[in-house]
Amino acid sequence: MASDRLDAERIIEYFKGKSILITGATGFLGKILVEKILRVQPDVKKIYLLVRAIDQASANQRVQSEVTETELFSVVKEKHGKGFSRFIEEKVVALAGDIIYDDLGLDPPLLQHLADNLDVIVNGAATTNFYGRYDVSLDVNVLGVKHLCQLAKKCRGLKVFLHVSTAYAGGEQEGLIQERAFEEGWALREGMHLDVDAELRLVADVRREVEDDDDKARRKAMKELGLARARHFGWSNTYVFTKAMGEMVLSRMLLQSSSPAPAITGAGGVVVVRPSIITSIQRDPVPGWMQGTRTIDTAHHRVREAEPVVLPGRPGPGRWTSIPGDMVAGRRHFTEKPRVGKRGEVIPTKEMHFFKTIASFQVYMLVKYRLPLEILHLVNLLLCGLFSRLYSNLARQYRYVMHLVDVYGPFAFFKGCFDDINLERLRQRMGKSRNPQDDEMFNFDPKTIDWEDYFYRIHIPGVLKYILK
Ligand SMILES: NC(=O)c1ccc[n+]([C@@H]2O[C@H](COP(=O)([O-])OP(=O)(O)OC[C@H]3O[C@@H](n4cnc5c(N)ncnc54)[C@H](OP(=O)(O)O)[C@@H]3O)[C@@H](O)[C@H]2O)c1
Repeated sequence: MASDRLDAERIIEYFKGKSILITGATGFLGKILVEKILRVQPDVKKIYLLVRAIDQASANQRVQSEVTETELFSVVKEKHGKGFSRFIEEKVVALAGDIIYDDLGLDPPLLQHLADNLDVIVNGAATTNFYGRYDVSLDVNVLGVKHLCQLAKKCRGLKVFLHVSTAYAGGEQEGLIQERAFEEGWALREGMHLDVDAELRLVADVRREVEDDDDKARRKAMKELGLARARHFGWSNTYVFTKAMGEMVLSRMLLQSSSPAPAITGAGGVVVVRPSIITSIQRDPVPGWMQGTRTIDTAHHRVREAEPVVLPGRPGPGRWTSIPGDMVAGRRHFTEKPRVGKRGEVIPTKEMHFFKTIASFQVYMLVKYRLPLEILHLVNLLLCGLFSRLYSNLARQYRYVMHLVDVYGPFAFFKGCFDDINLERLRQRMGKSRNPQDDEMFNFDPKTIDWEDYFYRIHIPGVLKYILK
């Protein structure tokens, strides 16, 4: 059993001499992974980063400016001093490609080089827009997975294929949500059969139907199609729906295929991780660092701006994925450190109102905003369009808020509880290494986090510094 035991030293040793392909490295999670590997194991052989770029020079430029030259890499930079650029040049290889294309858009010799050399593939690329275009979301989150699986099958010595999915791919279920692979055909709505290939054909048909429309109309049609198909099969938005289909494709190609690549046969070498909502870095290398506005931070922004905040959801601490636990810490931050206006005056932080159900929120919005809007509409008609501009501005804002609630609302009332038995098994296998600091580096037990302290002291200041700047 001793060989089954994991500790920090063994994890660090694992990456020695390995060649790793990572997609999504310009994104939030991807670059955290790249930095961590380079920090803990400078003797990694190569890290190939597939980025969307028109040519090699722009791929290099993107990797430099969006990955290795970001503040996130400050610790690695300090460690290597003047040798940092040489170290990065030696270890990091930018590849100009795109996962939506066959062979990832790479030339055959390069693809062959990867197939001959890769030990690990990490697919972190995705389009994470909840209300994204259906054609784009299918291309990236489903076809992209297929293309990476095809590469995995060509690899001679691949040891691990790691695909990053999302905890919400399983939909808004209640009770314990188990960690099981999604079989193709499965749908959240009972009695339905989800055929991924049929969805790809459908989107190709619709693409042809709308090809003569202008850009805006095409975008709208594709966005609406995504939401309609997601809801038809029981998912709440296009993102989680296409992520679920991506997993189905992976399952079909790497777990059930009759001729899987020998090196990654079975579930041992194929790993699907399903994080919930990922917030800023807690400790290493830069506490509070994050990139891109995340779902829950939209609310922080509104509190900071001292806008009246009405939110569907329950206040108070809850499961860590829930918005309100974070929101309580958010208000405390802005109450103690209120915003100051241009003339030095304190801008008071507004109260937040929570609603127990979406229905009660909708009634509130109807009485407080929709009815006055309708009255304004009538007055505007009577006064021959005197308030047209005001009316259309307010009506647009109202529609925007209601749309946000439609897309994000289900997450505020999420009643499921994610089973993490596999992670727990992994935690149990973790032993102590000779250097306790190394153990801290691989701590992945959320129970060890003081969540209130984290949100109040690290995450919210991080949002202010890195997102709202
Ligand atoms: N962040 C979260 O809270 C969260 C929670 C659960 C799961 N996840 C999952 O974690 C992964 C990373 O999420 P993230 O938050 O880091 O996302 P992100 O910041 O939006 O980054 C997405 C990355 O994917 C790349 N990408 C998109 N389309 C691509 C394509 N066609 N070819 C190649 N690369 C492409 C983007 O490249 P460009 O720079 O060119 O756009 C970017 O590097 C995703 O799979 C997501 O589903 C995230």
